[in-house]
Amino acid sequence: MKKLNIAIIGLGNIGSYLYNFLNKNKLILSKKNNCIPNVLYVSAKNKNRKRNVKINKKKWLKNYLDATKKKDVDLIIELIGGAEGAAKKLVFNALKNKKHVVTANKALIAKYGDQLSRIAEQNSVNLEFEASVCGGVPIIRSLKEGLIANKIKKIYGIFNGTSNYILSSMEKENKNFKDVLNNAKKLGYAEANPISDLNGNDVSSKLKILTSLCFNSFLNNNIHVEGISNIDKEDIINANLLGYKIKLLGCSELINNKIYQRVHPTLIKKSSYVAGIEGVLNAVITEGDPVGQSIIQGEGAGPQATTSALVSDICSILRGNIKFPFSISSKERKKLKFEDISERLFSAYFRFDVIDKPGVLSDITKIFSQNKVSVKRLIQNPRKNKAISSIVIITHNSKDRYLGKILKTVSSKKYILKKPKLIRIDSN
Ligand SMILES: NC(=O)c1ccc[n+]([C@@H]2O[C@H](COP(=O)([O-])OP(=O)(O)OC[C@H]3O[C@@H](n4cnc5c(N)ncnc54)[C@H](OP(=O)(O)O)[C@@H]3O)[C@@H](O)[C@H]2O)c1
Repeated sequence: MKKLNIAIIGLGNIGSYLYNFLNKNKLILSKKNNCIPNVLYVSAKNKNRKRNVKINKKKWLKNYLDATKKKDVDLIIELIGGAEGAAKKLVFNALKNKKHVVTANKALIAKYGDQLSRIAEQNSVNLEFEASVCGGVPIIRSLKEGLIANKIKKIYGIFNGTSNYILSSMEKENKNFKDVLNNAKKLGYAEANPISDLNGNDVSSKLKILTSLCFNSFLNNNIHVEGISNIDKEDIINANLLGYKIKLLGCSELINNKIYQRVHPTLIKKSSYVAGIEGVLNAVITEGDPVGQSIIQGEGAGPQATTSALVSDICSILRGNIKFPFSISSKERKKLKFEDISERLFSAYFRFDVIDKPGVLSDITKIFSQNKVSVKRLIQNPRKNKAISSIVIITHNSKDRYLGKILKTVSSKKYILKKPKLIRIDSN
């Protein structure tokens, strides 16, 4: 049987789990792919660090970049992380030296994926990154293979387990953002520094990659990004009273030949599929022609789910399945028009915590009408037992820039006690 020689670079959470998995499952993977996955070399930053894996010293490369020069290496698996530095050097050099690459690094692919895919195509090697988007949810392979027949019009869903865990727990346990975040860190659902999970950047990288695959376009940085740090218990309770849940959604859609990419907290109907995705789970929903709607859900991170995705990429290479990294040749990828969301229509939820005095409500509603935004529902003090006077307004569909203007104008008023909230409502 043929052999494929592999170097695993990076032996942290993911790399060490993958190493053990490939060792244990070598036989079955060889049988399934008619080719043996042979881990020949490994490397990481510190050779003397204690790890959960036993590795023969002969396999260890002193300099991780040597993997890119060794004649006997066919495939390099990059599990270092980060868009710059060691990971970037490794992947660029590997592809230039005609090595296949598998990576779980969304930051690198979202930033340099266009350049990297050109090099991979020129050198007829694979660049695979299933594990970079939603861990165990096989959305990239689905788009490249299972759904290849379809013209995708929209892709959306929950792409970050940490933020979904926090929002779900705030609702279930009736707790504040900070308390839930601290608990999530203790349980290992949030990293010590979870900033990119909470500010929407993690979802943004994943969405950029998915957008390119769905619309055959180049990666594009025109994306609206908001995180969840601003959401508090009151919003979750109000949403619940109104029949909604709050989720951090990533969404890319093609409307009148323009693409809108956006990541923000969203009110979604409790009865919708996405509302039922709780805890650390991820879900990706695609709408395509002719297939209609299709949904994949699963664990979005962690060594097990990520290894499932990495092994799927490795098997594709074992079978000699050489493909364009972004599903279509770089020469055929399009420069499509990406619009920012200011002209897109949304209905929205506003919350204003105000001083309880006459004239405040009429001033606020006047600002709405000046911005041509019509009010669908207005609830004063949705929680009657609260000391603060709170006004919740649900709007009809309006241009996003008018919604933003209202937020800005009302924020500057003296009767405002707390930063007002604007959360867009999902129209599905
Ligand atoms: N953790 C997840 O749940 C998850 C899910 C999906 C995707 N990913 C992605 O998977 C990748 C790896 O994540 P991880 O959680 O395994 O990270 P990690 O635990 O921090 O491991 C990183 C590894 O890279 C090595 N490394 C760091 N700098 C290096 C350098 N200059 N030269 C050579 N090796 C270097 C480290 O070496 P030492 O061990 O010697 O320090 C370590 O083994 C990242 O791209 C991440 O975004 C992770």
